[in-house]
Amino acid sequence: MMDGVAYHIPVMLQPCLDGRNLGTTQDIGRNFVDVTFGGGGHSRAILERMGPNDRLWAFDQDPDAQANKLDDERFTLIPQNFRYARNFLRMHGVTEVHGLLADLGVSSHQFDAADRGFTTRSDAPLDMRMNPKTGTSAAEWLRDADVPELTRVFRWYGELKRPDKAAWAVVDARNSGPILTTGQLKQALTSQAPRGKENKFFAQVFQALRIELNDELGALRELLNQCTALIPEGGRMVVMSYHSLEDRLVKHFMRSGNFEDQLERDFRGAPLTPFSPVNRKAIVADDQEQMSNPRSRSARLRVAERTALSAAA
Ligand SMILES: C[S@@+](CC[C@H](N)C(=O)[O-])C[C@H]1O[C@@H](n2cnc3c(N)ncnc32)[C@H](O)[C@@H]1O
Repeated sequence: MMDGVAYHIPVMLQPCLDGRNLGTTQDIGRNFVDVTFGGGGHSRAILERMGPNDRLWAFDQDPDAQANKLDDERFTLIPQNFRYARNFLRMHGVTEVHGLLADLGVSSHQFDAADRGFTTRSDAPLDMRMNPKTGTSAAEWLRDADVPELTRVFRWYGELKRPDKAAWAVVDARNSGPILTTGQLKQALTSQAPRGKENKFFAQVFQALRIELNDELGALRELLNQCTALIPEGGRMVVMSYHSLEDRLVKHFMRSGNFEDQLERDFRGAPLTPFSPVNRKAIVADDQEQMSNPRSRSARLRVAERTALSAAA
């Protein structure tokens, strides 16, 4: 809890725990990783089910998440981007991970903290970095991006119907002055918002900028590639996505070990893949959870188990 408000309500908690197969092996001192610690809801539940010799390593690049650190000697929070997970784990002497959880995207806290610039609901400086100490703010990016770049981001990450028009609207607005606040960005794009669907339109625009600025897809690719080396045979990864592009990367990687979904086979025709999906389809939140936690509606949970194929170096 922060300021008396829940930092984040964990999504699909039980399916995530089931996916990691926490209780099936002897307590031999296993390593688990939660690469998206946030408010610690998933981590707390994992700790409750771990043995006394197991360890839980958590990552979060947002300095605000530090305030939620869990008081348990089996727990360590590493305040870093999960794209460097393997290196930081190695620094702690960890080279094998028996279960890894990624609950992607931003937390409710990040959305609700008006001064972070993620929310369309209040006027605030346009920042949108999960780690405000590094990278480019949304205001700086919007100052420099050209029309093709703006169009690409609005098209692929925001799924806007007319990304080119939105891009030109940003450039036109820039001619009259810098776009420095969430209110100024909304003002610049008001003419593009379909009538009656303004909230959805602005949410898509803000989501697009957030994904770009935090290189969310690049970080996810790097994380997945590291899982092949980190997770030994029988270990599992559990990944929850909130955007179709993320889910596609996860689905392809779990099925074929690459993002192009190129399935390699041995001479007998058996698939040569480092992971095997545990469920054929993505798991979604049940009706009750979707009613009580709207954030869960777009969540897609996938689980895969490491096969015997030898790990990458
Ligand atoms: C959806 S929230 C996770 C919520 C968490 N499962 C809980 O129960 O509270 C995602 C969290 O992951 C963090 N995050 C997103 N991308 C990250 C990355 N590349 N490296 C480290 N942390 C990241 C965000 O800062 C955010 O706190």
